[in-house]
Amino acid sequence: MTWLITGGAGFIGTHVVRALREAGEPVAVYDDLSTGDRSRVPADVPFVRGSTLDGELLRRTLADLSVRGVVHLAAKKQVAESVERPLFYYRENVRGLETLLEAVADSGVRAFLFSSSAAVYGVPDVPIVTEATPCAPINPYGETKLTGEWMVRAAGRAHGFATASMRYFNVAGAASPDLADHGVSNLVPMVFERLTQGVAPVVFGDDYDTEDGTCVRDFIHVADIASAHLAAARALLDREPGTDLTLNVGRGEGVSVREMIDLIGAVTGYGAGAAPAVAPRRAGDPARVVASAERIRAELGWSARYDVREMVVSAWEGWCLAHPGARRPATAAPA
Ligand code: WQD
Repeated sequence: MTWLITGGAGFIGTHVVRALREAGEPVAVYDDLSTGDRSRVPADVPFVRGSTLDGELLRRTLADLSVRGVVHLAAKKQVAESVERPLFYYRENVRGLETLLEAVADSGVRAFLFSSSAAVYGVPDVPIVTEATPCAPINPYGETKLTGEWMVRAAGRAHGFATASMRYFNVAGAASPDLADHGVSNLVPMVFERLTQGVAPVVFGDDYDTEDGTCVRDFIHVADIASAHLAAARALLDREPGTDLTLNVGRGEGVSVREMIDLIGAVTGYGAGAAPAVAPRRAGDPARVVASAERIRAELGWSARYDVREMVVSAWEGWCLAHPGARRPATAAPA
């Protein structure tokens, strides 16, 4: 059976494609290349360029490639952009998903994995977030992910396929330098960019009710995200049609922004030169979002393998590969 990976040319998608292939699972990629990189899709992987809004092409693709499982990663994921362009986010992330689910409904697909997000929790008022923690997204991005979970679950029940919604926490790192995230919309690459531009990183607020005053997040290696998808994909094939799983994908360990920046300074060799400038809080930032990773361990026997140092080292190797001319500290430690 073939797994269709929508968004398979993207940062997380290319890691999921590699993980499934290395495990012997046949895959195909469907991607509109709006942000994905075609060169990252292996030449021998069937590739269809298309939008999730193109129902006819999706139906043809599912039939032509005898797809029996879908991993749906294609979506817009920038929180700030979602605030500025909510209807664009609802069109791409919700209407696109609806179109895909309509194509899947009568296609013989047996399993559907959905890329969700810790953003569905909004500003949790508990130190450790479980899947039972109330969801109250505070931006359109998070709203589209929560809506997507409801759609996936209802469609699976109505049309007889098993589903899983994977709530990613803060994704970082790279399985290999060539697969590193080219986007600069999250903490780690944003710090790399400022350091290599010769300016201090910025910490958005150091007056939160946390140990060092900076926000705390659950950082998870993208290679762990990919292995979690492989474990979930295989589990879904053994589950009853119409059943659903909602799973946090995190390490269950909180790391503060300041700790992350200090680690980046040590790994990159900038050392004390990475000391951040403190800026005002960023609107919408929860003080702490840390996963309970108990359910995914209990359901799939899966837990994260990599620690934050391995995330930073691998991300830095990817950054240096993508920015060969980037300014490096004179005393750069080997990554
Ligand atoms: C992390 C922390 C910032 C940059 C992300 C994704 C979201 C979802 C959850 C997948 C915040 C602080 C950042 C900087 C800083 N993932 N920061 N200086 O907002 O937790 O959400 O993970 O679906 O899509 O956006 O991640 O990396 O933007 O910020 O102080 O230069 O780092 O304020 O506290 P966030 P982030």
